[in-house]
Amino acid sequence: MEKREALYAGKAKSVYTTDDPDRMVMVFRDDTSAFDGKKVEQLDRKGKVNNKFNAFIMQKLEAAGIPTHFEALLSDTESLVKRLDMMPIECVVRNVAAGSLCRRLGIEEGLDLIPPTFEMFLKNDALGDPMVNESHIATFGWAEPEHIETAKALTFKTNDVLKTLFDDAGLLLVDYKLEFGLYQGQVVLGDEFSPDGCRLWDKQTRTKMDKDRFRQGLGGVIEAYEEVGHRLGIDFD
Ligand code: TMP
Repeated sequence: MEKREALYAGKAKSVYTTDDPDRMVMVFRDDTSAFDGKKVEQLDRKGKVNNKFNAFIMQKLEAAGIPTHFEALLSDTESLVKRLDMMPIECVVRNVAAGSLCRRLGIEEGLDLIPPTFEMFLKNDALGDPMVNESHIATFGWAEPEHIETAKALTFKTNDVLKTLFDDAGLLLVDYKLEFGLYQGQVVLGDEFSPDGCRLWDKQTRTKMDKDRFRQGLGGVIEAYEEVGHRLGIDFD
């Protein structure tokens, strides 16, 4: 496999083509962004930590029957992935109230959400990733209704797998965001799963151990990511 030209650079990752038209190299950078790119900083070791964290989680999901784009770790900061045709939609499941849900609906942070909620957001920084529903997605043709149904089912299936995984490590999976794409007609999990795209609280103390430490200027961002990884048994070296 040969890495060729840069295809796309997002806020925290870049992707490169390879000699295989169905495969890409995903590079995890140290760049850390919040508030749709309004706050950006370089955090030492983040690329490596998120690359290895993502590989660990994607392999757990794949083993549980959730199709993912992940193929192999290539280096500290690079992974080989399937090239998907991405849907421009972020799928969010929330087990506990936090973040934009609290702001939008006046809900107190920390409330258990039973059953968990499901929300979708349009990936569009200029618009601030607005919340959208199935009807908007169908009307504007952002994705096929049946693909959205599958993405929703896979997002909930991910919850079953990851809630238990994090619980066993003394962590509460508060909420998370997934992105899906199509590979040979099949809906497949793409992008990444790392503490950048979820909320994780220590079960006992409710200490925030995810990107809210960066958003809220709490410090110790990568140290918290590494602590989560160590509890899961991930080797970052
Ligand atoms: P929110 O509370 O800001 O709506 O975020 C819900 C979850 O989704 C939280 O774990 C952070 C994640 N998320 C992203 O990773 N990227 C995004 O662009 C958005 C809107 C949310």
